[in-house]
Amino acid sequence: MPYRRFVVPRTIAYGPGALEHLSTVSAQRAMIVTDPGVRALGLAERVEKTLQSSNAETTVFDNVEPDPSKETAWAAFALAQEFKPDTIIGLGGGSPIDTGKTAWLLYENPDLAEKSFLEFLMEARRRELRKKARYVAIATTSGTGSEVTSAAVITDRSVDPPNKAGYGSVQLVPDIAIADPELASSMPPAVTANTGYDALVHAVECYVLTPPSDMVDPLALWAARTIMEWLPKAVENGADMEARDKMHLAALQAGIAFSNGRLGMVHGMAHLIGATHHIPHGRANAFMLCPVFAFLYTGYKARLSALASHLGIGGKDDRTKVTNLLKAFDDLKKKIDIPLAIEASGLEESEWQAHLGPIAASYAMTFSRIPNLSELSPEARRAQGIPGSDKEVEAIFTHAWNGTRGELA
Ligand SMILES: NC(=O)c1ccc[n+]([C@@H]2O[C@H](COP(=O)([O-])OP(=O)(O)OC[C@H]3O[C@@H](n4cnc5c(N)ncnc54)[C@H](O)[C@@H]3O)[C@@H](O)[C@H]2O)c1
Ligand SMILES: [Fe+2]
Repeated sequence: MPYRRFVVPRTIAYGPGALEHLSTVSAQRAMIVTDPGVRALGLAERVEKTLQSSNAETTVFDNVEPDPSKETAWAAFALAQEFKPDTIIGLGGGSPIDTGKTAWLLYENPDLAEKSFLEFLMEARRRELRKKARYVAIATTSGTGSEVTSAAVITDRSVDPPNKAGYGSVQLVPDIAIADPELASSMPPAVTANTGYDALVHAVECYVLTPPSDMVDPLALWAARTIMEWLPKAVENGADMEARDKMHLAALQAGIAFSNGRLGMVHGMAHLIGATHHIPHGRANAFMLCPVFAFLYTGYKARLSALASHLGIGGKDDRTKVTNLLKAFDDLKKKIDIPLAIEASGLEESEWQAHLGPIAASYAMTFSRIPNLSELSPEARRAQGIPGSDKEVEAIFTHAWNGTRGELA
């Protein structure tokens, strides 16, 4: 059996008060990457004060938007070129942490900034980091787990549909991750719900798609169980610090799991509807989860059924168990006020229909890289969870629009 590797930050500071760990980080020039919302909460100033008390010079880039664009990441890189930090700090949800990771990668390898976006994505995984700076990630949402992952997601909006691209390299795993639930306690209910559902999808998508692993599975399952129990409490009462603490750590654990395992079709399809229709990342995942898992049933029945058992969900056979599992995922959405159907979320049907064909074709295209694809029979494709045509992808998106899902074949 080939060996596998497991990569995590060198230090993970977690639990109430974990932000204090920052005072032990010896930085002389620190650049903080954040967004206007997080800055307005006073968090960038808190971080700056902590660093300045040990005589570090600081600068702040606070111009990150949700689903950050290539231009934003390149602008953060330009500030790094000017300021020459020895420490870069991503402060916020996934958007600022990923922008910071990308700015860090460019700062360490400035020639990458001259490349096309596609060349940048291909080259990124081969490049060294840490010649100039370290990376510290401080999470303020309980969602992406980006504070511990080897991934970053950046969107190229110059193409249609926009290319929301995740890229990864073990080098990108932050040196230090700080997960202090007190920083997440200011999230309003909708942000708590969307980001928390993202963490759930990381845990369950990773569990179903990753080959069984005694390192990854326990984290994914623990995170999934914790989120099913505690997300409704965190949404209902944002001041419930026990719920915030449980969610903050579960999101981090799910991040470690998928960063050392894999994600797939739920995230792939969610990225397209998120980037095209400006649907928050976690909410887009919530829309896609059940239609995609129903599609994957043929190929992943055993893992889906085992996931149901681990979550305490029973049934007389695999099909009943998995049906009950998908129902539990839908029930969670109801509890936290995420609509079951995209249709109920305020998006105009004409808008949806105008983009449906192109995004389905664009997603179906992503499978064209699979070797010998044309030689696979429809049954073999289905068993590997590979859609056979644009129409099949369109049907899955249409289930998400209607809040339905296909038959478990
Ligand atoms: N790198 C990874 O491993 C990874 C994994 C999954 C998703 N992502 C990406 O991360 C991005 C989404 O990140 P996100 O879901 O964390 O949201 P986000 O970073 O886009 O933030 C969403 C909103 O929440 C606000 N916010 C953040 N913290 C807050 C707090 N404590 N109190 C009040 N408001 C707060 C922000 O200001 C922003 O308006 C997407 O681009 C997604 O594709 C990355
Ligand atoms: Fe995600």
